[in-house]
Amino acid sequence: MATTQPQPDILIRPLVDRDLDEARRIIRVAFATFLGLPTDDPRMGRDSDVAGTRWKTDPASVVAAEHAERLIGSNFATNWGSFGFFGPLTVEPEYWNRGVAQQLLAPTMEIFQRWDSRHLGLFTFAHSPKHMALYQKFGFWPRDLVAVMAKQVGNNPGAAVPDTTRFSEAAPDDRPQILAACTEVTDANFEGLEVGIEIRAIAGQNLGDTILVWDGAKLAAFAVCHTGPGSEAGSGVCYVKFAAVRPGRRADETFERLLDAVEAYARAVKAPKVMAGVNLARREAFQALIARGFRTEMQGVAMETGDPTSGYNRAGVYILDDWR
Ligand SMILES: CC(C)(COP(=O)(O)OP(=O)(O)OC[C@H]1O[C@@H](n2cnc3c(N)ncnc32)[C@H](O)[C@@H]1OP(=O)(O)O)[C@@H](O)C(=O)NCCC(=O)NCCS
Repeated sequence: MATTQPQPDILIRPLVDRDLDEARRIIRVAFATFLGLPTDDPRMGRDSDVAGTRWKTDPASVVAAEHAERLIGSNFATNWGSFGFFGPLTVEPEYWNRGVAQQLLAPTMEIFQRWDSRHLGLFTFAHSPKHMALYQKFGFWPRDLVAVMAKQVGNNPGAAVPDTTRFSEAAPDDRPQILAACTEVTDANFEGLEVGIEIRAIAGQNLGDTILVWDGAKLAAFAVCHTGPGSEAGSGVCYVKFAAVRPGRRADETFERLLDAVEAYARAVKAPKVMAGVNLARREAFQALIARGFRTEMQGVAMETGDPTSGYNRAGVYILDDWR
């Protein structure tokens, strides 16, 4: 039965601590089923954790669906100031096409309203008519492709990159100022964009580090990097969850310095593979990654609200993220 009517026997509620293991299992099974992969396929991620990290970051942003006292799906919303995105959205396969995802999305959209998010987006499978149709019901329209790219950087420590520091090295008293400087950089790319929640989550949950690139006393760029088991990256990987460069005449050079610093960090923490996502509308950033030897491992499409020029996916923007 396919219907847009809410199913009364399905309970929609916040996801709680004791749901986490089951939520992780459903995420794995749902994606494996959709992609036609075994659940233990290495492409499904080995020891990375999106559900636990995002739930800990903000438990009130995660919605669960329950049927007959059993968890059957969940959705995770993320608050980046004026921009919000959701995912992973997953439903237990035996419940597909019964409107459960739509029942999860309705309260997710209310969360964005509560946050006053000005622009919304998501990452999905470009080849799936079902995904397109589902998200269009909630005002999301397909825009540009998004490349999730990777580069092997090896383990040799190499030379230190000048004028770079790590957030973890900053004295607690200096951290609010650094967070404010990061917001200045994101705000200069898209008014109100703010990823402090990610920087604090990494510091608080020990998920990696935030790499800071300086022009004297002024923050020029930063990269929020997950690494290690239990993070969004998993073992052996440094995943740039978000990175941004202050716009300006030398943004291209700063972007190269930032990537040098990220690669140096990856080698230092023995994560020989760097992963980063980029929206292809940010053409210069995409081209710079290709020129450095990054290759696309998978690609999807960004679906967004608003008109086709809204948001921060446009030429000249040096931001890395993929909204997965
Ligand atoms: C994607 C997913 C969350 C959808 O969950 P679901 O509960 O099956 O979705 P729903 O039943 O609420 O909605 C699907 C809608 O798409 C419609 N649909 C499906 N195929 C379609 C097509 N080819 N053209 C148009 N509409 C289509 C369905 O009819 C339904 O709409 P309706 O209720 O108005 O008839 C689920 O399939 C899943 O977990 N997939 C694997 C993980 C995944 O891909 N997650 C999303 C990543 S972005």
